[in-house]
Amino acid sequence: MSKETYYVTTPLYYTNDNLHIGHAYTTVIADALARFRRLQGYDTWFLTGTDEHGQKNERKAAEAGVSPQAYVDRIVEANKALWRLLGISYDDFIRTTEERHKTVVQEIFKRVYDQGDIYKAEYQGLYCTPCETFWLGRQLVDGKCPTCGRDVELVKEESYFFRLSKYADRLLRHIEAHPDFIQPTSRRNEMINFVKQGLEDLCVSRTTLEWGIPVPFDPKHTIYVWFDALSNYITAIGYGRDEDKFRRYWPAQVHLMAKEIVRFHAIIWPIILMALDLPLPERVFGHGWLELDGERISKSKGNIIDPKVLVGKYGLDPVRYYLLREGPINSDTQYSEAGLVQRTNVDLANDLGNLLSRTTAMINKFCQATIPSPVAAADDGVLRELAGQVVGEIERAIDAMQVPEALIAINRLVNRANKYIEETAPWDLAKDPAKADRLNTVLYNLAETLRLAAYALVPFLLEAPEKICRQLGAESDLQAIPWDQGTEWGGLAPGTGIRRGDPIFPRIEEPSDECPASVDVSQATPTETPGAPRTACITYDQFAQAELRIAEVLEAEPVPKADRLLRLKVRLGAEERQIVAGIAQHYRAEELVGRKIVIVANLEPAKIRGVESQGLLLAASAEGHTRILTVDGDIASGARVK
Ligand code: MSP
Repeated sequence: MSKETYYVTTPLYYTNDNLHIGHAYTTVIADALARFRRLQGYDTWFLTGTDEHGQKNERKAAEAGVSPQAYVDRIVEANKALWRLLGISYDDFIRTTEERHKTVVQEIFKRVYDQGDIYKAEYQGLYCTPCETFWLGRQLVDGKCPTCGRDVELVKEESYFFRLSKYADRLLRHIEAHPDFIQPTSRRNEMINFVKQGLEDLCVSRTTLEWGIPVPFDPKHTIYVWFDALSNYITAIGYGRDEDKFRRYWPAQVHLMAKEIVRFHAIIWPIILMALDLPLPERVFGHGWLELDGERISKSKGNIIDPKVLVGKYGLDPVRYYLLREGPINSDTQYSEAGLVQRTNVDLANDLGNLLSRTTAMINKFCQATIPSPVAAADDGVLRELAGQVVGEIERAIDAMQVPEALIAINRLVNRANKYIEETAPWDLAKDPAKADRLNTVLYNLAETLRLAAYALVPFLLEAPEKICRQLGAESDLQAIPWDQGTEWGGLAPGTGIRRGDPIFPRIEEPSDECPASVDVSQATPTETPGAPRTACITYDQFAQAELRIAEVLEAEPVPKADRLLRLKVRLGAEERQIVAGIAQHYRAEELVGRKIVIVANLEPAKIRGVESQGLLLAASAEGHTRILTVDGDIASGARVK
């Protein structure tokens, strides 16, 4: 049986245009929250949908030469397709043009009117159509809308007004008594200041708009789109229709959105609920914006990024991981494609992917491809202990809505396991039969850490967790395992056969077109490289840190038992060095003697298959073909390359 309920919502997105990565940001976060709570056994309800009425849609449809309904239908299909692509597990998708919504909104409006909280008066004021917001003259910035910076229109008409002023004190008391009601604290403080300045009654009807819900008792008026749209949070769960369902899920645990619409959710919406004598939602959470070059990503700024393109290019999990991990959620986040690639390569390919391939390779080699049995006396408990702590951190992070923190905690466990491999050196343990218990225990700990990390990633990533578990031979219907069970140490059964597979996250080539192909970087300052996002470029000084030199090959021979490696003895001016290069499948040793090659001379020495390498040979590879870098004509060995 489920324990408590967990009702989470996203904003209802406008249907005047297709969605972009900013909308995906909120929706993927809400999805991760819903998935997490489902695993924990909450009776979860995840609602998203579309806000389809209002002047914006009316105008867009007219431009497209179709009816508003036909126009929004098309957008809704595209939205749903995007949510399918991103694996959004919503339980309901509400459209404000649906009958189940419209009729109940009319009832709500009438009830509030009947009790005297809505009244009719003459309205004269300013209106921003793109934001569907009324403004007072003093609120404008340079005569423009303070939210989007666009022109406002003068509106003068007979309208219905909602008595916000009557409820202002009660709202303030509620906000002050419930520190979690508006989150994060910065938004809470903003809202407290806003309410303290005094609330004016809100105009909640228009006569100049046809594409909306008519005021039931005065149909030449249509209901203000925000009054209409906000009501979705209760119409969708059966308010006024399905009392059982409504009582089951209301009040919502969290309304999630970005900061620019917190005001509507933290002031107008609670007052509508107070007027209806309903409890207020537990939390209104306003995350920061996804920005590009310091500006909010939005249609009006013309800087939108299409999540479909990113998923096509990089796959679903890297895109979800990036959106969920990048954060911090409370403040604005700078989006960059290079950042997405880097995040994937570091956290997923390097840290998680390598842990899996190293662990399965060792189990394959040292344990006949079978999960070994741990032995208590040979256990150090390091990974088990950290796993326990990390599970607690994930839970606390999600309770506090800090999703990136949950992923940081999982990554810490993965990295600790990678370090554990170096510390325990299973390849050395394997040489001594007396250390078999220790070897088995170490390898079990690594495999179990991977299983647990993969399970903990289930709310966030949709493909990798199952792939990891499949390779470990573990149960792969992870959704069916309750959180407390899945995160308990010891889930992996010794004796199970592993199934090694392809890397779960192949490294992505860094986007190469982000740097201009040939600029004289030694002369350029960063601002003189037009069109090149600086994150993907390095400065000349950074480049110059790599000491590239010409080396002459004096000797070359294969490295025993390593069919890809050659050991080269090279001369660098007066100095001689040994270099190990992975080119044995492309060059015979004798072909290289006497050649002048290019090496990185200041790379930290490293042991490769037990042979020290004191530099890195440069070579180019494409389509399985590798060629070493040499010089055009002769030049002294030791010469600097720059
Ligand atoms: N229709 C209203 C909401 C009504 S809710 C009853 C609306 N729609 S919207 O299409 O403009 O969506 C705004 C929301 O989309 C933001 O609050 C946020 O959740 C998401 N985002 C859109 N662009 C975003 C960014 N650049 N960054 C982060 N979130 C963004 O407002």
